[in-house]
Amino acid sequence: MNVHDSEKMLGILGNNGYVAAGKPEDADVIIFNTCAIREKAEQKFFSQLGRTKQLKKKNHNLTIAVAGCVAQSEQETVRKRAPHVDVMLGPQNIGRISDMVSGQASNGSFDENHELAYEELFVTRSSRIKAWISIMYGCNNFCSYCIVPYTRGREVSRPSSSIVSEVLRLRGQGYREITLLGQNVNSYKSDCDFTELLRLIDKTEIERMRFVTSHPRDLSLELIRTMQELPSVCEHVHLPLQAGSDNILRMMNRGYTYGEYQKKVDMLREAVPDIAITTDIITGFPGETRQDFEQTVYALNGIEYDGIFAFKYSPRKGTTAFDMENTVPDEEKSERLNRVLQIQEEITYKKNRKLEGTTQEVLIEGSSDTDTALLSGRTRTNKIVTLPDSGDEIGSFVSVLISKARRHSLSGEKC
Ligand code: 5AD
Ligand code: SF4
Repeated sequence: MNVHDSEKMLGILGNNGYVAAGKPEDADVIIFNTCAIREKAEQKFFSQLGRTKQLKKKNHNLTIAVAGCVAQSEQETVRKRAPHVDVMLGPQNIGRISDMVSGQASNGSFDENHELAYEELFVTRSSRIKAWISIMYGCNNFCSYCIVPYTRGREVSRPSSSIVSEVLRLRGQGYREITLLGQNVNSYKSDCDFTELLRLIDKTEIERMRFVTSHPRDLSLELIRTMQELPSVCEHVHLPLQAGSDNILRMMNRGYTYGEYQKKVDMLREAVPDIAITTDIITGFPGETRQDFEQTVYALNGIEYDGIFAFKYSPRKGTTAFDMENTVPDEEKSERLNRVLQIQEEITYKKNRKLEGTTQEVLIEGSSDTDTALLSGRTRTNKIVTLPDSGDEIGSFVSVLISKARRHSLSGEKC
């Protein structure tokens, strides 16, 4: 979501005559689009921000802007630690970026902005094949560890007509895949609900459609049926579990038990054979005992995800978990994280090996990062596939016979 916000700011600035500078030294404006989800991201930002002080000494016309969730949640700290920052704006006010950096608006913009869902913002996308589309903003869930509801504000959904026009426009420009974005897409509600929105988008005949993120509590049977029914909806769902222990899930305010979660996974797998399921895991949430943690291990082994994103719990000021007792020592959090990653490594590899000998539809995205003689693309289940470059046009769909599974990707040949 943060990356897509950057695409929007680029679009707005481009529309106002700004062009991208090759390197920071050549820039008249530098914008940091910050993420506050974990402390590490915040620290990285602060250390990079410090370095821009020198640039400003060399170029007196340089404008430094700080956008995103750290701007929203740490206004005072940024001002204190970096008085050379000229402009700050929160994620709900990205539409004002151009006016702000050109000095036509005040130098701070942090208002709760429900209108964001109705703003038609310009976008400069980094891909010509795959596109992100915001369908809703903000979050009402207040998971006890999470800063997002405080920085992105309350949930607001974009009107379906505006979303569908964006898909049609992208389709006309040759895009083949879209990913609908929202903190909790299952609670999308405007003139229609989420499943109706999927139906409307499917009618545009865009080839592939994905969505992130689904909240397990709100993933309905109707959504599962819709996924089964609509040809464009890819066989992949990202369903953050966070932890396997019911006690921890309750303390996290997630609104489901492991049993309820597992039932939804069963229903998904029954309705959509070969669906890929991925998840997010947090280790070392306050009060997480060794036994609680073993429940997470049990869940990973039981569900066998296709992939996971795992993080150490990071205390965020202002959230309810910040003040919770029985914090887990950092070393223990790391140990649990490593164990989770190790377990998943094997599972991912095993799942990848099962795909050897199968034929997969791959959307070619470009040259492989590791070997430019190879092309790289993704399956409908979002797995990375590399194949020899036989002049296939980037952006086309190719049938690939998978010959070899690796830990984080597959390789094969056109068939
Ligand atoms: N500490 C660690 N991980 C977090 N996430 C959100 N907040 C925190 C935090 N304070 C993770 C969750 C979420 C993902 C986007 O980031 O797993 O699903
Ligand atoms: Fe954060 Fe929970 Fe909202 Fe996701 S659903 S953004 S984890 S509060």
